[in-house]
Amino acid sequence: MGLLALPIPGSFFKVISCSVLVLLSLSCTSFTATEAYDPLDPSGNITIKWDIMSWTPDGYVAVVTIYNFQQYRHIQAPGWSLGWIWAKKEVIWSMMGGQTTEQGDCSRFKGNIPHCCKKDPTVVDLLPGTPYNQQIANCCKGGVINSWAQDPATAATSFQLSVGQAGTTNKTVRVPKNFTLKAPGPGYTCGPAKIVKPSKFITADKRRFTQALMTWNVTCTYSQFLAQKAPTCCVSLSSFYNSTIVPCPTCACGCQNTSLSGSCIDPNTPHLASVVPSAGKNSYTPLVQCTSHMCPIRVHWHVKVNYKEYWRVKVTITNFNYIMNYTQWNLVVQHPNFDNLTEIFSFNYKPLTPYGAINDTAMLWGVKFYNDLLMQAGPAGNVQSELLFQKDKSTFTFEKGWAFPRRIYFNGDNCVMPPPDAYPWLPNASSRQLIYTLGLVMTILSAVAFLQGYA
Ligand SMILES: *[C@@H]1O[C@H](CO)[C@@H](O)[C@H](O)[C@H]1NC(C)=O
Ligand SMILES: *[C@@H]1O[C@H](CO)[C@@H](O)[C@H](O)[C@H]1NC(C)=O
Ligand SMILES: *[C@@H]1O[C@H](CO)[C@@H](O)[C@H](O)[C@H]1NC(C)=O
Ligand SMILES: *[C@@H]1O[C@H](CO)[C@@H](O)[C@H](O)[C@H]1NC(C)=O
Ligand SMILES: *[C@@H]1O[C@H](CO)[C@@H](O)[C@H](O)[C@H]1NC(C)=O
Ligand SMILES: *[C@@H]1O[C@H](CO)[C@@H](O)[C@H](O)[C@H]1NC(C)=O
Ligand SMILES: *[C@@H]1O[C@H](CO)[C@@H](O)[C@H](O)[C@H]1NC(C)=O
Ligand SMILES: *[C@@H]1O[C@H](CO)[C@@H](O)[C@H](O)[C@H]1NC(C)=O
Ligand SMILES: *[C@@H]1O[C@H](CO)[C@@H](O)[C@H](O)[C@H]1NC(C)=O
Repeated sequence: MGLLALPIPGSFFKVISCSVLVLLSLSCTSFTATEAYDPLDPSGNITIKWDIMSWTPDGYVAVVTIYNFQQYRHIQAPGWSLGWIWAKKEVIWSMMGGQTTEQGDCSRFKGNIPHCCKKDPTVVDLLPGTPYNQQIANCCKGGVINSWAQDPATAATSFQLSVGQAGTTNKTVRVPKNFTLKAPGPGYTCGPAKIVKPSKFITADKRRFTQALMTWNVTCTYSQFLAQKAPTCCVSLSSFYNSTIVPCPTCACGCQNTSLSGSCIDPNTPHLASVVPSAGKNSYTPLVQCTSHMCPIRVHWHVKVNYKEYWRVKVTITNFNYIMNYTQWNLVVQHPNFDNLTEIFSFNYKPLTPYGAINDTAMLWGVKFYNDLLMQAGPAGNVQSELLFQKDKSTFTFEKGWAFPRRIYFNGDNCVMPPPDAYPWLPNASSRQLIYTLGLVMTILSAVAFLQGYA
């Protein structure tokens, strides 16, 4: 059917090849390829930039900015943490807009005690509402960073640190080593810090440029293989031309009966609220409603209407996780008809075209203050949209599952699709004719009804 023509992004694919002859001798070969490359976002990365703003008697003051250059992968609550290893015996005297998780052993200091004396500090963001005297510009977002496509203005975050026992010129300062970025789990690999051309800053009146005394960059890339995550999302399908609803594959994200996937919550529990712990705090480990698929997120694709020149799809995203409100969620959908998307209701849309000519991938996300928050499991735990596509007569068909998406990601994670042979079928082979006939009959019936109503 030609589905999954490209490798799975974030890339972990396993090929097991057994030729018939080899099979006889019962030996198979198995390769596992891993790479941190996402075909839908080939240059996606997180860049961490250190700008030394001033030298101090025993070190420097630096502003560290984390830019999320990934199109659709964002960092959600409880947020990022950034670690590194100092090259020498540096300490952090003070910080603004961020803090280290541990102070470490500062017993060798008298009088002024540093903020952190650890050789391998870990920095986290401060929460919104931090007192102004501890903030710097662009800080204090609780570790949340938006994706570049969704909102470049909130896709970066900064903190400032004053480093002591460090070099005090661009010749003696040593760049930190072994950067680690958690977002909040594993998945990112960071390269070494590279000294680059000093950043330039424009003054508030836009009439003068200033520049950093020294700048270095660190680039981190994501790999789903490193993240070692079980799937977190699955896809179900239905259509107007077949009453079968194809559900998410059983055990797509875990099985109810295995201890591995942990516990789940029966939505019919009489005192649901008291069973769900720590409500009001987003947690990284999901607590899902008991379903056959056990996924925190289900995306349903319904082929809703067939018009002469157009066809219409309804997309519903349902949250089955009781302890996560997904802020700034996003969906990436691949379908060949996206090059003729005519209208989309109540979601934002941006085409992702990493290969220029191929315009079959869409990024969809919520409208600010309307449905950009996908609420925790429950009656409000869903968002939906309708998409209107113009038919390209040379490719359009309802046959062989063509009308269904090739793949879907929710928040950058690949959603488990039903097997292609389970897709809803057209009632019979001469189906296209039948659908047009049905459409015609419906039109005539409604015209008759219309005339009767006004007779
Ligand atoms: C990181 O992303 C930016 C923006 O897309 C790009 O300009 C830069 O080349 C990327 N860096 C690497 C090392 O891929
Ligand atoms: C250090 O500063 C000098 C001028 O003060 C400059 O010529 C040199 O390129 C700088 N070196 C680095 C590594 O930035
Ligand atoms: C830092 O990274 C280098 C090279 O990647 C590695 O050899 C070294 O063991 C790491 N150091 C620590 C303390 O993790
Ligand atoms: C360093 O990062 C900044 C911010 O992302 C970027 O503008 C700059 O081009 C980068 N420099 C290099 C040499 O990659
Ligand atoms: C768990 O349930 C799934 C589907 O309901 C079934 O396929 C599987 O065999 C069960 N496993 C065990 C260990 O009972
Ligand atoms: C989600 O948001 C609702 C309404 O703002 C709030 O009542 C609920 O506690 C939040 N849940 C979590 C897990 O943060
Ligand atoms: C992709 O298709 C959409 C919908 O027709 C269109 O709005 C967009 O401009 C196209 N993008 C590119 C890069 O061709
Ligand atoms: C669909 O989009 C393609 C590429 O943008 C365009 O060449 C073609 O004419 C469009 N088809 C229709 C029916 O609009
Ligand atoms: C609807 O699709 C299912 C496959 O999902 C198929 O088994 C069934 O026969 C189809 N129904 C009709 C009326 O063709």
